[in-house]
Amino acid sequence: MNYLLEARNIIKTFDRKDDQLTVLNNCSLGLESGESISITGPSGSGKSTLLNVISGLDNSDSGELIYNGTDITSWTLDQFAIWRRENIGFVFQFHFLLPDFTAYENILIPSRIANKPAGSDEKFAMELLDHLGLADRKNHLPGELSGGEQQRIAIARAFINKPAILLADEPFGNLDSERGEQLTDMLFNLANMNHSSIIIVTHDKMLAARTDRSLELDAGNLTSII
Ligand SMILES: Nc1ncnc2c1ncn2[C@@H]1O[C@H](COP(=O)(O)OP(=O)(O)OP(=O)(O)O)[C@@H](O)[C@H]1O
Ligand SMILES: [Mg+2]
Repeated sequence: MNYLLEARNIIKTFDRKDDQLTVLNNCSLGLESGESISITGPSGSGKSTLLNVISGLDNSDSGELIYNGTDITSWTLDQFAIWRRENIGFVFQFHFLLPDFTAYENILIPSRIANKPAGSDEKFAMELLDHLGLADRKNHLPGELSGGEQQRIAIARAFINKPAILLADEPFGNLDSERGEQLTDMLFNLANMNHSSIIIVTHDKMLAARTDRSLELDAGNLTSII
């Protein structure tokens, strides 16, 4: 099988003063191009840790990471940072928008960080704002937006570099279910339009049911639940 991103036999432990905590115990995961996967599991089961490890934000004790046929396991932090910038979009539970920048400027930040020339993504940023129903909030600061609007800006920011993979960690955990469902539609639409594969961590069974495959993380093991 040719996966876009594959994690093989990942073991991740955290060393503490008196003990060692094994969080990921031989986890393997393959994400196909265009595929969506949801990961559920109890609080503390290692879901965020797994996203961190497969995106190179955190290292593992052992295991392999393969991206598009290339073994990236031993990449340096810098190599992972460049790779993430160009290929990975993140949506977190908390939006982490920069408070002194407008909605529009926040969306463009990943494009600026990727050193794209000024002017290259402005039109796409406006299209994203439009698509998310926020064209008239373009010049609002995050503090002048509602929670759902802030999260929509965070979604737009995640897509500005047209990532091959979108990683979302409880993206709608703070919203009521109706609003969460609306944003879920927007997220899946944008992923389709941009041909992005998705891995989404969620406790929301309805959201999990919308992905192509649902996995569960429990006691350090990743198992398929459909
Ligand atoms: N830096 C760290 N040092 C020690 N233990 C850690 C560290 N980071 C996380 N852990 C522990 O690892 C376990 C998994 O954490 P993780 O954040 O991945 O869980 P999670 O499944 O995302 O939980 P939640 O649903 O609450 O977000 C937790 O028990 C946590 O206490
Ligand atoms: Mg978490």
